[in-house]
Amino acid sequence: MRLFKRKAGRAEELRIPRHIAIIMDGNGRWAQKRGLPRSAGHSVGAETFRKIATYCKNLGLEYLTVFAFSTENWKRPAEEVASIMALLEKYLLEAIEKMEKEKIRLHIMGNLEPLSPRLCELAAYATETSKKLDGFQVNLCLNYGGRDEIVRAVRKYAQEYKNGLVGDIDEERFGGYLYSAGIPDPDLVIRPSGELRLSNFLIWQTAYSELYFTDVLWPDFTEAELDRAIEAYSKRNRRFGGV
Ligand code: IPE
Ligand code: IPE
Ligand code: MG
Repeated sequence: MRLFKRKAGRAEELRIPRHIAIIMDGNGRWAQKRGLPRSAGHSVGAETFRKIATYCKNLGLEYLTVFAFSTENWKRPAEEVASIMALLEKYLLEAIEKMEKEKIRLHIMGNLEPLSPRLCELAAYATETSKKLDGFQVNLCLNYGGRDEIVRAVRKYAQEYKNGLVGDIDEERFGGYLYSAGIPDPDLVIRPSGELRLSNFLIWQTAYSELYFTDVLWPDFTEAELDRAIEAYSKRNRRFGGV
């Protein structure tokens, strides 16, 4: 339990999750409602990410995982994909520039191979710099798919098993082959935009996560909205199959 000051000045005992994961959804609809191109929604959504990441760090969270681009998002028009990739480069560079000063570790989760050499270079640099830091960690899911992650893990394990490097598989060992190796599972998954599905996000790691859905579109998501999600989470009774 941690003490969490409410806006009304009343102090309430709220459980701040160790790890929150967010499916940053609704950028396109936000833009379309305003007669703007979808790319405008992605731009505002990226600003929302910056705001919410800072807020999570200040709340004392240990991990924030965000879904930025899925293995299925390549199906979108090329110009939309290009606008998202350009934003990712911009924000990754910005994050690298301030991560040491602000003590934010970055971990990229996903298959980087099809991404631009520039994005790969930035991702590698961010990962390397993060090794020197401790404290709050942002996991950025980039060209990430839960099924893809599992298949890659199986392939890697099978190869090592064949070479006699590892013994039999179990849940713990399997987790070590995922992009999330060493990271505790998310306590709370938040999906804005009114969709009630996981869309291939962290399908292994969310086995016992609490889920929170809201109709708010990601570009409209605020610190108050995150407070509401944490408040709802605080009231959940997590039994993990026990009583
Ligand atoms: C989420 O917003 C961002 C990405 C998937 C990259 P969307 O672009 O999916 O927004 P909607 O769901 O179409 O409104
Ligand atoms: C999930 O949102 C992916 C990201 C937010 C990056 P989508 O908008 O791609 O998911 P679906 O298509 O509605 O399931
Ligand atoms: Mg969407």
